[in-house]
Amino acid sequence: MSSQNKLRTITKAVIPAAGKGTRLLPLTKAVPKELIPLGKKPVLEHIVEEVIGAGISEVLFVISEEKTAIRSHFGDGIGGVRFEYAFQAEQKGLADAVMCGRDFTGDDPFAVVLGDSVIETDQRTTPFERVLNTHRDTDASGVIVVQKTPLAEVSRYGIVSPKHGTAPSFEIDGLVEKPKPEQAPSEYAIAGRYAFDASIYDCIRRTKPGANGEYQITDSIGIMLNDAKSVWCVALGPGEVRRDIGTFPSYFEALEVEIAKHSGR
Ligand code: UTP
Repeated sequence: MSSQNKLRTITKAVIPAAGKGTRLLPLTKAVPKELIPLGKKPVLEHIVEEVIGAGISEVLFVISEEKTAIRSHFGDGIGGVRFEYAFQAEQKGLADAVMCGRDFTGDDPFAVVLGDSVIETDQRTTPFERVLNTHRDTDASGVIVVQKTPLAEVSRYGIVSPKHGTAPSFEIDGLVEKPKPEQAPSEYAIAGRYAFDASIYDCIRRTKPGANGEYQITDSIGIMLNDAKSVWCVALGPGEVRRDIGTFPSYFEALEVEIAKHSGR
């Protein structure tokens, strides 16, 4: 590996898990949504395994005072991988949660992995690994996993605008949070895995509250593009699915798939 590539190799991941989980009430009244069961393990344990499997050696969980059960579950680390915790004082949105990683990441590039979203894959190289590889092999300041989504559903997600090329990986020149179908620049929805270099922090500082009155990381990435930085996407393949367990329908779907994997055992 060249020394340039080595500098671009990511070993740190930030897992935002401080959200209120209001869409899963009353289940999430006392139990953090990231710790609800997905088969034999909490959702977040599946995600931590994905992250460690990709070679990440330091993980920061962004939590809140109400969600210290996450720290009780994971502790200081496992098998040489170090776990740290940062507290998000107020749940002001994903961009604000990412900002809580500032001291942990320093000036190193890092991954962001949503604590409520699992990705199933039939590929040898997982989508998250492909994000890390794309960051290493391009000059991208940001890399995002995206999933092709029916046009009728684009208003639930951040949607990217491809610059040229399409799947499996492509550069973008814009993105918009929760667009109306007629305003969506494509059908590619942001799917919960990112890589950034430290320039994202300055973009977050310049981000104004957006959709739902929250600081949206989609808007921060838009600022990154306005700064003429390059942003790439890694598209999920036909046999890959992102499941956001943050609503009951999608949680039940993920649960059914997981139970089917273990049926008969
Ligand atoms: P969501 O917006 O889906 O989670 O954030 P939420 O805010 O908990 O959901 P509802 O609307 O109240 O049901 C995606 C991920 O980002 C984290 C969440 O914990 C989740 O893992 N998050 C979100 C934060 O850490 N801080 C925030 O301010 C917002």
